[in-house]
Amino acid sequence: MYDDIPEAIRQSASVKEPTKSNPPIVGLALGATALGAIAIAGLFFLRPQASNSPQSVTQQPSTSPTSATSAPPTPVATPANDNSKPDQLLGHLAYNEAPPSELEPISADGQIKLRKAAAIAYRQMAEDATAAGVRLAPLSGFRSKSDQTDLFFRVKEQRNQGVTKRAEVSAPPGYSEHHTGYAMDIGDADRPDTNLSQSFENTPAFEWLSNHAAQYSFELSFTRDNPQGVSYEPWHWRFVGDEQSLETFYRAQHLNPGSN
Ligand code: DAL
Ligand code: ZN
Repeated sequence: MYDDIPEAIRQSASVKEPTKSNPPIVGLALGATALGAIAIAGLFFLRPQASNSPQSVTQQPSTSPTSATSAPPTPVATPANDNSKPDQLLGHLAYNEAPPSELEPISADGQIKLRKAAAIAYRQMAEDATAAGVRLAPLSGFRSKSDQTDLFFRVKEQRNQGVTKRAEVSAPPGYSEHHTGYAMDIGDADRPDTNLSQSFENTPAFEWLSNHAAQYSFELSFTRDNPQGVSYEPWHWRFVGDEQSLETFYRAQHLNPGSN
């Protein structure tokens, strides 16, 4: 609380009132002497004090050659207050939709899209996998909230499931990583029977991804026993290869998201 008071005011507030124990004449004499001393001291110290002004002190760190590197890194996200909680629903975190103008096709028919940086990385990854004898198949990329609404509720009804059961494997609309344009589902083109199934983890595509995806800044979103409590999804990968994608996923885990 005290720190809210400007330092200059704090110092002047701490100066004590003159005591009233001295007789008036002695007090006057002492006062005149003191005034003279202060005037002389003022003349003497005025110039040196000016060179030590707060401005020159505050400029000092910026001229220090080590100041830029020794400064602590700026946190990506700082909780607004101790009550900040992720905006989550049924174990899934909230995400905004990627703008359509930032999406690029990654499938031969052009229907499956990712944000540009993720699309470039995926294309290179698929090309290198092919060169290694593994054919990756893009199954799903960006999904709008409207797409997700259909997927979540229609399938839930078809399967006669409650929302909690459905949410084990599918995010409610507004809470899917697919909204971001950075997440995608990948299959093995030579093993379509394993598409979107945990058996995908036994395919050459999954093995290749496990060993190489990080080179392209892709990571598995929902590992076994992930902290979000979402079912293991060996097919669901997300791009975390630039500032925006990293903030999108790692800020979302700590704060109310909304930037992406
Ligand atoms: N398939 C995962 C849960 C998602 O849509 O975020
Ligand atoms: Zn997915």
